[in-house]
Amino acid sequence: MSRVLAVVGSPRKGGNTEILVSRIAEGAASAGATVETVRLGELCIRECDGCHACWRGRPCSKDDDMRALYEKIGACDAIVFGTPVYWYGPTALMKAFVDRFVYFNCEANRPMVRGKAAATAVVLEETHEETWRPVVDFFEKSLAYLEMKPAGTIVAPGVGEKGAIRKESKRLEEAYRLGISLATHL
Ligand SMILES: Cc1cc2nc3c(=O)[nH]c(=O)nc-3n(C[C@H](O)[C@H](O)[C@H](O)COP(=O)(O)O)c2cc1C
Repeated sequence: MSRVLAVVGSPRKGGNTEILVSRIAEGAASAGATVETVRLGELCIRECDGCHACWRGRPCSKDDDMRALYEKIGACDAIVFGTPVYWYGPTALMKAFVDRFVYFNCEANRPMVRGKAAATAVVLEETHEETWRPVVDFFEKSLAYLEMKPAGTIVAPGVGEKGAIRKESKRLEEAYRLGISLATHL
């Protein structure tokens, strides 16, 4: 059975990112995947300071919740990255999480992510492409660098208030279908 790790990068509990990511998770589960959701806002993930202990075969020097997440990432077949746009970028939570992927940037650890599917979900209040494009590019470039397999991106513009995305039925359907496609291509 395939395993999907769904990562919610918004600190707002029950917010638009969480709703969108949970639809992707439901789609993946309906197609037979086991899905585990992690909310970065409930975890302590500190900044990468580039000490590169991980490149020398040592554990990450930051003894925080990322240690357990490295195990989960290594054990899963696909990752869903969900974030709202915060000042034209991902949230600080999501950025810190992805910064810590430096861990996979050495030959010993790269097999933990290489070839794994990665789907992305981005929500934002504005509607201009110039606002969300840098966030989509950030994921596309970083995940390609890590040799992960792009498995689809959903952008949900025009959702500001908590829960506003519930009215976007087409977007939620798109998320569900992305989840199915993610699980069936693993
Ligand atoms: C600190 C902060 C910065 C934000 N920056 C932007 C922004 O640059 N562009 C935008 O369209 N929305 C911005 N937003 C709005 C959020 O992207 C929007 O409310 C989103 O739906 C929040 O998702 P959530 O409910 O999952 O937290 C910002 C919100 C916050 C709290």
